[in-house]
Amino acid sequence: MAKARPPTSPSIESLSKAAARAELEQLASEIAGHDRRYHLEDAPIVSDAAYDALVARNRAIEAHFPELARPDSPSRRVGATPAGPFGKVRHRVPMLSLGNAFADDEIREFLDRVRRFLGLDRDGIVETTAEPKIDGLSISLRYERGRLIEGATRGDGAEGENVTANVATISGLPKRVAAADFPSPFEVRGEIYFARSDFLKLNAAQKADGGKIFANPRNAAAGSLRQLDTTITASRPLRFFAYTWGETASLPATTQLGMVEAFSRWGFPTNPLMKLCKSADELIAYHQLIGEQRAALDYDIDGVVYKVNRLDLQQRLGFVSRSPRWAIAHKFPAEQATTVLREIEIQVGRTGALTPVARLEPVNVGGVVVTNATLHNEEEIARKDIRVGDTVTVQRAGDVIPQVLGFILEKRPRDAVPYVFPATCPACGSHAVRDVNERTGKSDVVRRCAGGLVCPAQAVERLKHFVSRNAFDIEGLGEKQIEAFHQDGLIRTPADIFRLAKRQGQARIEIEEREGFGKKKVQNLFAAIEARRTITLPRFLFGLGIRHIGETTARDLAKAYGTLDALSKAALAAVDSGPDGEAYADIDAIEGIGETVVDALVGFFGEAHNLAVLDDLGSQIVVETFEAPATAGSPVAGKTVVFTGTLERLSRAEAKAQAERLGAKVSGSVSKKTDIVVAGPGAGSKLAEAQKHGVKVLSEEEWLALIGSA
Ligand code: IVH
Repeated sequence: MAKARPPTSPSIESLSKAAARAELEQLASEIAGHDRRYHLEDAPIVSDAAYDALVARNRAIEAHFPELARPDSPSRRVGATPAGPFGKVRHRVPMLSLGNAFADDEIREFLDRVRRFLGLDRDGIVETTAEPKIDGLSISLRYERGRLIEGATRGDGAEGENVTANVATISGLPKRVAAADFPSPFEVRGEIYFARSDFLKLNAAQKADGGKIFANPRNAAAGSLRQLDTTITASRPLRFFAYTWGETASLPATTQLGMVEAFSRWGFPTNPLMKLCKSADELIAYHQLIGEQRAALDYDIDGVVYKVNRLDLQQRLGFVSRSPRWAIAHKFPAEQATTVLREIEIQVGRTGALTPVARLEPVNVGGVVVTNATLHNEEEIARKDIRVGDTVTVQRAGDVIPQVLGFILEKRPRDAVPYVFPATCPACGSHAVRDVNERTGKSDVVRRCAGGLVCPAQAVERLKHFVSRNAFDIEGLGEKQIEAFHQDGLIRTPADIFRLAKRQGQARIEIEEREGFGKKKVQNLFAAIEARRTITLPRFLFGLGIRHIGETTARDLAKAYGTLDALSKAALAAVDSGPDGEAYADIDAIEGIGETVVDALVGFFGEAHNLAVLDDLGSQIVVETFEAPATAGSPVAGKTVVFTGTLERLSRAEAKAQAERLGAKVSGSVSKKTDIVVAGPGAGSKLAEAQKHGVKVLSEEEWLALIGSA
């Protein structure tokens, strides 16, 4: 194998800054080349040891000249790229999901909400498109100067996988668009899917060759797209429907329908069943009609999608968390089947919750084989009187966990006995109790293990959450690996993850000898861990797994405090102040944060062992300062605003959403911390309050002028 570099590199101390910069640049491209050859081409040209030496040299120079670390440095990149063979693509416009509805009334409510938000009359007409919801995988295709230059999967919505070489093989997709009105850049988005007829043929061929059998067309589409060998992708008849767009230099139309017509003109396949509707009744009739046609279609759908047709209205409606206010998915009812309940197993979650899981006689529910289903909690089992041995009804809807709905009395075995929920934790034997909520006096539906830190099941679940995709997202360290490392005592606490490589002497050898781990895998794992030594504040907070602090709340807290230090100080002050104190109320006052979250946060910071975990982590990692994106230059970013009285140009909800988009905090009451009160006709006590505190008061017109949308 070729030598990677001269055996004696100059000592790092003797490097000038310029020489160090040049060497880092050289190393970045050299290592990237080796990564590509190793991961994509399966044809490395250096030994593992020589590769290691390059990575180590890069890291050592960076340690000495931290200011020279490159954005594309291998020490940052390695964790992200190698373990998954596809590169990552950051979506310039996030790929969003859709809110769901099942009942017809929810569709009426959707339209009412839209009208209210836009300040329209209750019986005002909002034109809405309706189209099938394809059960495939969403994709974003970027065109520049008419040429397809990038294809990316949805991923987590912010970042997906680069599958350019794969999408380039899909025959129904234009690789070039010559139309004069095709913007550059333009990102067309839609669904890649497998036709049912093609799916049956593929599985038959796979079976004959002893290849992989796919459970459903969706899996076949995903499996065919994500192939390192693009000749395999090319051999699979993948199809595409275009239905939305991402970044674009300009818009060829002013309506959703017009956009889809443009897609079609440009040569993209679009769904022929799309229809423009004018009322909830029409939408509901459409849902009914497509439901009746569903079985005869040659592709899987799981509902229909409605979108407000006018793009200017879409723009005004905006988004709530990750779904547009201007669209909704009207799903078809969940699929059901009956089967025998063999056993009830109790799983222990990261907060100690004991969850009963039904182990079932395998059954096909709408195309997917189900063997486990949730029984929710103790009370549900008792209320439904579900017993081991019963024949039960199981329901599955989309990606959610299947659930047991009930049992069939005629089929109950004579000897079936009522289920007794355990009062001790199956993992550690501690008492399992149902807390009584102090505020309501009611006992919690969930029974929890009181073992806390001594319970191995809780510890493992917390670690799994810590490394999960939306938290630390450490490639190569999934649920299976966490379980194994925990069992062997290599990882007991989150900080242990970052000490793993240090324990090379014993640990590396041990790890290398594990099943599924070779030298290269271990090296990749360590690199992936290294790459996460610096982490964003929202990911960090979410990763701690504090009850009630999900992704959105973690972000809200990060936005409010900016740094872990500021947040810790505020939380510790609230621990001291107690629920009636000012420090507690300060956290409670943050937009999006309520009492339950403050209680959970204070509960966490009030425990010495949690503070020890934080300290220990602090010695291993750096949590970045959080800056809320995209509000730079906004005249109201960071300001607290109160709306009062009647607004004439905007509905209250729209005004609030618009202010928040610009980085302002909207509050319901005026205090000395308020920066601006926007007062319309009829403003009363809040206006008086503002005058008392000397808070700036603006009319609606002045407010709109200030934010530049008068
Ligand atoms: S529109 C901003 N239209 O459903 C709105 N999505 O649950 C973007 N999907 O991730 C989505 N058919 O993968 C839209 N006709 C359709 C769709 C569709 C399938 C998928 C899409 C999206 C998911 C959301």
